[in-house]
Amino acid sequence: MSRAVCPGSFDPVTRGHLDVIGRAAGLLHEVVVAVGHNSKKNALFAPDERVAMLADACAEWPGVTVSLFGGLLVDFCAEHQIDVIAKGLRSASDFDYELKMAQMNARLTGVDTVFLPTAPQWSYVSSSLVREVALLGGDVTPFLPPGIADRILERVRQRSQ
Ligand code: PNS
Repeated sequence: MSRAVCPGSFDPVTRGHLDVIGRAAGLLHEVVVAVGHNSKKNALFAPDERVAMLADACAEWPGVTVSLFGGLLVDFCAEHQIDVIAKGLRSASDFDYELKMAQMNARLTGVDTVFLPTAPQWSYVSSSLVREVALLGGDVTPFLPPGIADRILERVRQRSQ
């Protein structure tokens, strides 16, 4: 049995994230999507909101649960009997960054990381670009699971009042 974690900020979850989570769920027995709650100070959505949005978006996969985490990812893995970290890779720059984290995590506790190449149609999509486009009035619907674009619009409206 392998239990994996798909960690991230997910501010907000994109269709690129869901591509990776869904494929990880097809390959591994159980997947815990872990929302890091300290990673961004000026986040668009609060950690609890991100967890709720992810839980909706992942409801179709029975082996997937969503959780909040703070502190080191390797400690979360140890506490939840997680033996592998699953991450998506969009580009060579992702690889450079992710490789160092994977090696550090392996050095800390021995937990290993597997990389899944992001599907090409989502390779340019990131939460930070989605936030920027939305804040400047662009349409982000194609990059997001149903319902999330409306929540972003609502949040952008609140911020501009
Ligand atoms: O979506 P992001 O912002 O790329 O997610 C980054 C995240 C939360 C997965 C990463 O920053 C992380 O693992 N943070 C936990 C703190 C930690 O373990 N840091 C040491 C990494 S080697």
